[in-house]
Amino acid sequence: MARKTLIAGNWKMNGLKKDAKALAGGLARKMAALRKKGGRANFEMLICPPFPLLGLAAEAVKGSGIRVGAQDCHAEASGAHTGDTSAQLIKNAGASYAIVGHSERRTDHAETDREIKAKAEAALAAGLKVIVCIGETLKERKAGQTLNVNRKQLRGSLPAGATAANTVIAYEPVWAIGTGQVATPEQAQEVHAAIRKALKSKLGPAEAGKMRILYGGSMKPGNADELLSQPDIDGGLIGGASLTVKDFWGIAEAV
Ligand code: 13P
Repeated sequence: MARKTLIAGNWKMNGLKKDAKALAGGLARKMAALRKKGGRANFEMLICPPFPLLGLAAEAVKGSGIRVGAQDCHAEASGAHTGDTSAQLIKNAGASYAIVGHSERRTDHAETDREIKAKAEAALAAGLKVIVCIGETLKERKAGQTLNVNRKQLRGSLPAGATAANTVIAYEPVWAIGTGQVATPEQAQEVHAAIRKALKSKLGPAEAGKMRILYGGSMKPGNADELLSQPDIDGGLIGGASLTVKDFWGIAEAV
């Protein structure tokens, strides 16, 4: 089943205005150059800057086909939630995606599957697409709990109304994030296949077959090719290597 590869950059808490302008603008120019040569991107590209840079990034990639997303959103549409950002405002700032449930949010902010599900549903209600992150820790992997943990997180955080058109799953093994210790293509494929199987029983074979499952965790230009050529890996959610045009575009070129 044809699934368009999604190359998504999670900038995390990095960059100032000038960096965002240079990075988003540089990627937009790469896209334009590709088109000029008569090429057409066989992948979808997404960048997820910190909240205050959403509008600027959206402006910088306008017309390039590159999409902009947020790294989180609040579960409520508005109200007394100091320091939080609603999905509606994210959309209003020019973004079309929100990441929810990243392991750094699960750890730093003690987010539970239940909260993540509510956030994902708020994102969908606002007309955003959502990327739901799941992944096991090293301790869980060593205890042989990898598939169970991922299935449980998926069950708990998948939004009601999820379809292949509005929802993307990101498998990010916590031990591979920012460590340089990438999952082997076989390790990643095993979990991706289990996720797809779980999606099948939840959403039916047609939606599960169309839904994209991204891998995240130390993906680089040098290892992207073998990861992205696995049958159930439909793209990447990239941290460190999404911070330079050279590395991020290098990963896209592996598609
Ligand atoms: P790294 O690519 O830096 O390992 O980060 C992955 C990640 O957490 C993307 O969301």
